[in-house]
Amino acid sequence: MKRRAFLKGAAAAGAAALVPAGVAGTAFTACRPREAAGDAAEGWDFDEVIDRSGTWSIKYGRATNGETPMWIADMDFRTDPYVRAALRTRLDRDVLGYTSTPQAFIDAIAAWERQAHGYAPEKEWIGYAPGVITSINQACLTFTEPGDRIIIQPPVYDHFRLYIERLGRVAVDNPLILENGRYRMDLEGLERLIDSRTKALVLCNPHNPIGLLWDRESLARLAEICDRHGVIVISDEIHGDLALYGRRHTPFCSISETAARVGLIFAGPTKAFNLAGLSGTAFCIIPDKEKREKYLGALRNAKLDEAPIPTIEATIAAYRKDTAWLESLKRYIEGNIALVEQFFADNDLGIKPLRPEASFLVWLDCRALGLPQDELMDTFRNQAKIIPSNGASYGTGGEGFVRLNIGCPASVLTAALSRIRMAFGK
Ligand SMILES: Cc1ncc(COP(=O)(O)O)c(C=O)c1O
Repeated sequence: MKRRAFLKGAAAAGAAALVPAGVAGTAFTACRPREAAGDAAEGWDFDEVIDRSGTWSIKYGRATNGETPMWIADMDFRTDPYVRAALRTRLDRDVLGYTSTPQAFIDAIAAWERQAHGYAPEKEWIGYAPGVITSINQACLTFTEPGDRIIIQPPVYDHFRLYIERLGRVAVDNPLILENGRYRMDLEGLERLIDSRTKALVLCNPHNPIGLLWDRESLARLAEICDRHGVIVISDEIHGDLALYGRRHTPFCSISETAARVGLIFAGPTKAFNLAGLSGTAFCIIPDKEKREKYLGALRNAKLDEAPIPTIEATIAAYRKDTAWLESLKRYIEGNIALVEQFFADNDLGIKPLRPEASFLVWLDCRALGLPQDELMDTFRNQAKIIPSNGASYGTGGEGFVRLNIGCPASVLTAALSRIRMAFGK
């Protein structure tokens, strides 16, 4: 207990020391020295550059010429120390035998939803889910037929379209509208788009790649439209735990009775606590009994209902009461966003960042450069020596944009930004 109290105090002190500063060679601290901390949770230092070589990292696998990989959404920080400690402890128990999903897993998620998002789902609505995308796919298989239409809201996470199409369904675009530097849903367009073959909508809440926290009114109207037409809403909330600037994520099913009736939530600790390699670590919240039974039955039939030991241990450890690490991480991300904003304000390169509200991903508007997308990506890769995600891969409205993963030490980000200045400067 003493160590925990110490960690908490130290983190708060570290967070207070964060100063959004200019880019040039800034000493930047949203953390504290690792050696100052205790044992199991050994502290954290987001400034430390971690060597990920030899770990089969997908992110670094693409950086074949020494580029800085700033694309796929995992962070270059050490995974949450409490999670690593819990995994270590479990491995020391020697036997990794068949394991049931314990009530403690459900309890941890229920307590977290209440603490982090002010949502109090019934515990029986919560279940293990085998990874967010796998779970969304299972929902598509369970609630739709081949040839059915499933709506997405591009520019949006590319795996939505990819798997809808792989499953033989039709992905239908209801593109977001960008107005005065802010995206909103096209709810009138949505209503017009729905026909008798439209069975589901995959909602990205918060929205990746833009990092938007959806407001209650948009979510409520979306729920009402979908309910009226018998369309289920599959809400991907994997980025919800990363709500920044003191704001809160709104779980879709918490909005209204209507949303609870039409919605299925899929989420997990993998983004916020940096556990993406613990594939299959997720959960679902399905308030509607009929949908829940149908969905969980389908998972059982596919033998996808058994949570792996690392998933159980990691989820319980991540979703603890003590949020000092996560809060410290969020302050650091906000600091990195400030670096990016200051950099593009100081350097007129024809690139404008949109501030993310819930992620470590910054959506960069490069349309003013007037470059074809291939050339834009080429310049980032071959001249700036950075690999961002290609905006075009997120579908309609993504052309002219890239998504920059800033979940890295400020020194790495600063160096990357300097190279962007050299590559795109006139
Ligand atoms: C919106 C969104 N959903 C899902 C995923 C992947 O989730 P999982 O690894 O649990 O399938 C990502 C990863 O980047 C994501 O951004």
